[in-house]
Amino acid sequence: MNVIVVAAECAPWSKTGGLGDVAGALPKALARRGHRVMVVVPRYGNYAEPKDTGTCFIQLLSYFGVQDMEVSYFHSYIDGVDFVFVDHPVFQHQENNIYGGNRPDILKRMILFCKAAVEVPWHVPCGGVCYGDGNLAFIANDWHTALLPVYLKAYYRDKGLMKYARSVLVIHNIAHQGRGPVEDFFHLDLPEKYMDLFTLYDPIGGDHFNIFAAGLKTADRVVTVSHGYAWELKTSQGGWGLHGIINDSDWKFRGIVNGIDIKDWNPELDAALQKELGLPVRRNVPVIGFIGRLDHQKGVDLIAEAMPWMVAQDVQLVMLGTGRPDLEEMLRKFERENHDKVRGWVGFSVKMAHRITAGADILLMPSRFEPCGLNQLYAMKYGTVPVVHAVGGLRDTVVPFDPFKETGYGWTFERAESGMLVHALGNCLNTYWNHKKSWEGLRTRGMTQDLSWDNAAKHYEEVLVAAKYQW
Ligand code: GLC
Repeated sequence: MNVIVVAAECAPWSKTGGLGDVAGALPKALARRGHRVMVVVPRYGNYAEPKDTGTCFIQLLSYFGVQDMEVSYFHSYIDGVDFVFVDHPVFQHQENNIYGGNRPDILKRMILFCKAAVEVPWHVPCGGVCYGDGNLAFIANDWHTALLPVYLKAYYRDKGLMKYARSVLVIHNIAHQGRGPVEDFFHLDLPEKYMDLFTLYDPIGGDHFNIFAAGLKTADRVVTVSHGYAWELKTSQGGWGLHGIINDSDWKFRGIVNGIDIKDWNPELDAALQKELGLPVRRNVPVIGFIGRLDHQKGVDLIAEAMPWMVAQDVQLVMLGTGRPDLEEMLRKFERENHDKVRGWVGFSVKMAHRITAGADILLMPSRFEPCGLNQLYAMKYGTVPVVHAVGGLRDTVVPFDPFKETGYGWTFERAESGMLVHALGNCLNTYWNHKKSWEGLRTRGMTQDLSWDNAAKHYEEVLVAAKYQW
């Protein structure tokens, strides 16, 4: 099968979070299963390696009238996957701020990107042959590319080769939906009868425009990144206004837990974390790590509430992240006030994330919601024991430790409350200090799990095949 994965970010070229990791790794796993796979992503920087492979004119009904925009495609073939970068000045300044800018700008970028991506099978010959041979499936990701299934349906279904092209839309995070005023629809260049697809009623703001809603209704199949999140998305609390549509789409909806790139996350390359960060080098003191965006989703405020308890224990704490300025300042303050125990590293560093994952004994993930979560998977692979809020993908992947059966991988707590976090962490520390054999068992079980993408890729393949036979 020919598979085209379309995403707003793709590691290692661009990454703000887990989506970038997925777009970088899932395609390679699909290629290993014998599919012909391409990734289409905007070209944010002047990456040196891809080659210029052609141009195409895309018409855009912008805020200023009709515009013909010329995009170029750059191509690179790595690990069995064709990576195609869509080049246009609107993407050029976004390398460090992919989702930045005002609403009209973001919308314009995403429309241009989706229109350009859906044309790729016709315009970019990879190894001399285009992808659009009639056995083609697109995998779009999150609201940024949720327009792609709609364009596919509106303009390509009656066109020879693309007639049987199908689309899968993956939900990585429902909190961002591409909302706006209903008039935004008129910039999409779609027949007016499509307007209803985009219009969603909101109890607070009334009718509004919603890109994710239209994508979910139009895609042939919908996937989300864990079973726990699939369940949560159908509830009014977890669906963020889209639960109705997701419930209606139940027949085409499925949860598949993400894998990890085991080549990229390799525990052999360990680090001396305490020394590097200037913490007292002590062998038997547990190092607790946190890595994540500093925002409400990741529950950093719960760590803040638990801080007095934590610094009263004989532990060290290393936190890494960027995000809300007040939370960044809080990290610095923790470090200032507890210099012998706490390091708060404000910034995003892939290298540092690896170091913390490798060097910590325990990883905290008190996320309020977590569609899949990759850091707990990286942690387990490295023998670092996760302590997590039992939600979404964290519930799927961190089976709680059972001291009687000596099973499980870490500790979970049922509500996003600091008291519950302290309780779970306390049990974890007790095991670390007093039950060394159980601790080693926990680590070994975590490290020897099959967390690779190969398993998930098999399930994606089933979804792609099911979409095909719907025709
Ligand atoms: C989003 C989610 C995260 C998930 C990632 C990849 O960033 O918040 O939970 O792991 O996407 O699917």
